[in-house]
Amino acid sequence: MRRYVIAGNWKMNFTPSQATAFINEIKPMVAGKDNCDIVFCAPYVTIAAAMEAAKGSNIKIGAENVHFEQKGAFTGEVSAEMLREIGVEYVIIGHSERRQYFGETDETVNKRTKAALAAGMKVILCLGEVKEQRLAGITKEIVSMQTKLDLADVSAEDMKNVIIAYEPVWAIGTGLTATPEQADETCGQIREALAEIYGAEVAEATIIQYGGSMNDANAAELLAKPNVDGGLIGGASLVAKKFTAIVDAAQ
Ligand code: PGA
Repeated sequence: MRRYVIAGNWKMNFTPSQATAFINEIKPMVAGKDNCDIVFCAPYVTIAAAMEAAKGSNIKIGAENVHFEQKGAFTGEVSAEMLREIGVEYVIIGHSERRQYFGETDETVNKRTKAALAAGMKVILCLGEVKEQRLAGITKEIVSMQTKLDLADVSAEDMKNVIIAYEPVWAIGTGLTATPEQADETCGQIREALAEIYGAEVAEATIIQYGGSMNDANAAELLAKPNVDGGLIGGASLVAKKFTAIVDAAQ
């Protein structure tokens, strides 16, 4: 039995005080809704304030990236150990914005994933096709290849701590959503790729989220699909009412 994980990706939004206000607002709205795990991934400087506000609630706070080296001359980067010391459990890795704007490749995504897992963190690994790839009919090949490259040398045991977020790049922040059928089909193809690497048991146990303009209006339909085990939510994770509606859809 897979459990829904509803995760917000705040991206470069919310200062510490804004995050505190947001968590205080949404905390009572999602209280007791325990049929899913609820996570907000925050900018590094906002994490501590968000965690403080979320104390004692069913909300967990994660990070949006992590570096693969343990320490040293990597100006501007943050290590897994640093995140662990302040109690961060979840981290997004390989988001398409990192791949598009910050030169992230499957190789660096794989290195970051292994570093986070070695530090005992849970990874939300993002992958998905761009529009040209979908139009060319090669989505399955792309997501299978990304799954294999991004998880290279990740053990079956460590897969317990990996959540995959299938995010078609053409659907992120565009208002375009994959249809529930497209989301289900592609999440299923990722599951097939997992089965090839790890066997059926790991593939069936792995949580695969959909992300890309998921909102209060379309979440129920997407989450109803058998291969969709939650959502990674950008825009709608900044609005308490919208995010709560998505959590409700997962109940
Ligand atoms: P969106 O972002 O919900 O605003 O499309 C999703 C994501 O980038 O994770």
